[in-house]
Amino acid sequence: MCGIIGYTGRMAAQNILLDGLQRLEYRGYDSAGIAFFKENTGHISVRKTAGKVMDLRAICDDENLSVCGIGHSRWATHGGVTNANAHPHKVGDVVLVHNGIIENYHHLIEKYHLMGQLKSETDTEVACAVINANYNGNPEEAIKKAVSELKGSFAFCIMFSNHPGEVYAIRNVSPLVATYAPQNGSFLASDLTAFIEYSNKYFVLPEYHILKMTKDGITLNDLDGKTVEPEYMTVDWDVSTAEKNGYNHFMIKEIHEQPDAFERTVGPRIKDGMPDFSDDNIPDSLFEGIKDITVIACGTAMYAGMVGRTLIQNKIGLPVKVEIASEFRYERPTITKDTLVIVISQSGETIDTLEALRLAKSRTDRTLAVVNVKGSTIARESHYVMYTHAGPEIAVASTKAYTVQVAALYLIGARIGVLSGEIENDAVREFIAKFRQVPEHIKSVLQMEDTIRMYANRMTNAKDTFFIGRALDYTLSMEGALKLKEISYIHAEAYAAGELKHGTIALISEGVPVIAIATQSNVYSKVISNIREVKARGAYVILVSKDQEIEDNTVCDIHIPLPDIDDELTVFESVVVLQILAYYTSVGKDINPDQPRNLAKSVTVE
Ligand code: AGP
Repeated sequence: MCGIIGYTGRMAAQNILLDGLQRLEYRGYDSAGIAFFKENTGHISVRKTAGKVMDLRAICDDENLSVCGIGHSRWATHGGVTNANAHPHKVGDVVLVHNGIIENYHHLIEKYHLMGQLKSETDTEVACAVINANYNGNPEEAIKKAVSELKGSFAFCIMFSNHPGEVYAIRNVSPLVATYAPQNGSFLASDLTAFIEYSNKYFVLPEYHILKMTKDGITLNDLDGKTVEPEYMTVDWDVSTAEKNGYNHFMIKEIHEQPDAFERTVGPRIKDGMPDFSDDNIPDSLFEGIKDITVIACGTAMYAGMVGRTLIQNKIGLPVKVEIASEFRYERPTITKDTLVIVISQSGETIDTLEALRLAKSRTDRTLAVVNVKGSTIARESHYVMYTHAGPEIAVASTKAYTVQVAALYLIGARIGVLSGEIENDAVREFIAKFRQVPEHIKSVLQMEDTIRMYANRMTNAKDTFFIGRALDYTLSMEGALKLKEISYIHAEAYAAGELKHGTIALISEGVPVIAIATQSNVYSKVISNIREVKARGAYVILVSKDQEIEDNTVCDIHIPLPDIDDELTVFESVVVLQILAYYTSVGKDINPDQPRNLAKSVTVE
């Protein structure tokens, strides 16, 4: 999704903007640009280009001493990837950048007689023209009038000619955060990573509030002109967290961060050996008396929900549904006041998950968000929030966020088990004691990285692959398949092992890689039978199991042994194997796993 950055202060703005855009690259983009006040004048200059930030740097002037500007990385929605469609857009006295979608821009083109006036194909330029048409020298008035006519999602960062040193912003749905750091000036961005080296304090711009930034501070006014105090938050990570620190890619760095991420997420929620959410202000009443659970999410977060569902339903006996957010939004909800709704989102900004949450809230007061980004929209709009503490996840392919999402769901299941009496306290205590050992088990799997890397070489020429398993392994295989396809571009499909012979086995031919996960004792022999079925038809089988060795070497071509751990905890080991396999398959194909084609880190547009 698009990245936005704005700055005004006493430092040279250009590198702050360009470096900030570089830090936002992980959001996914295809063109970039900046605009800045020419030093000590009210004149605004624009530099923009299709391509990467490095291409933008090439057309910028190193001697640029401007101290105020805005920047943008564009993930194309309206209009192709061209220089003209790149942001910033300039119409008259107004220059702006935008993240979101203006749904009524055709109407606005007619209303403001813009036909033949526009230089691009974008909805953004139309919005810029509307603000300019309403501008009579007062930026806030112009913004207020314009947004009253806009329909859709937007995060605007705006500058006005003859208002040097001033940057304005307003948002609806699309994210924007800001901060004022006295020594450095005022910063605004799509997310904190863009300016973390200048401040670890920030606030989320409230929707439909006009932000004005100058070198001396920030003011925030609602649309009635009433000044509002920003609600600052502080993060406990720093600029090095938002950098690769010697790893070749963010993805492999984040795979290695999983033991710490797990501990930071789980540790504070275990008191006296039992799950305890008191520090999260999550009351037991949220869970007491629930009749069913609905988990709503997208992508990897949804697959984490699938794993949580299997564990909770099997352990607690409560019906648990996992809904794809973009589907849930258009179905007739079966949620009642006794349904616990858990929405999962790493970014906390995924539009489909956000809108699904809003629909769920119309049916129940029991909404709980499992979110990684502090203060994000989903976190703020749900009744309760359990933050995961994975730290910033920069790689598009989610890894550590998935692991801590599953961990959070396991904790929630344990808490419900205690409160409902479904699980004896001693059994929960025993589970928690083993649960806390998971980071050590993940570390053991990470030590297998070089071996798994070798096996990935066998995957790079594959056209189709299948991930199969049963029970928890089946739900985990969904994440394994997504990881592989989104960063290696190899078609991958997760399949319930027992379902293969009902059609899909027809696709198995000589050399097709099948990654089989067989860690669940109660169905182990069944999965081995299913593996034999695909092997008999020429599949190249990579088996992931807790066996330390496989007697019958006709079962698989490669065996990846997992450190011994309780069946219900194997997912934390298996997923690391699949993440590493996907990562090195991608690298083996000379793909940048951090920024796979067509993908964005946070899908904030529908
Ligand atoms: C997974 O690797 C992808 N990045 C994608 O599926 C992602 O999980 C999905 O878009 C949901 O994002 P969220 O967790 O930020 O809501």
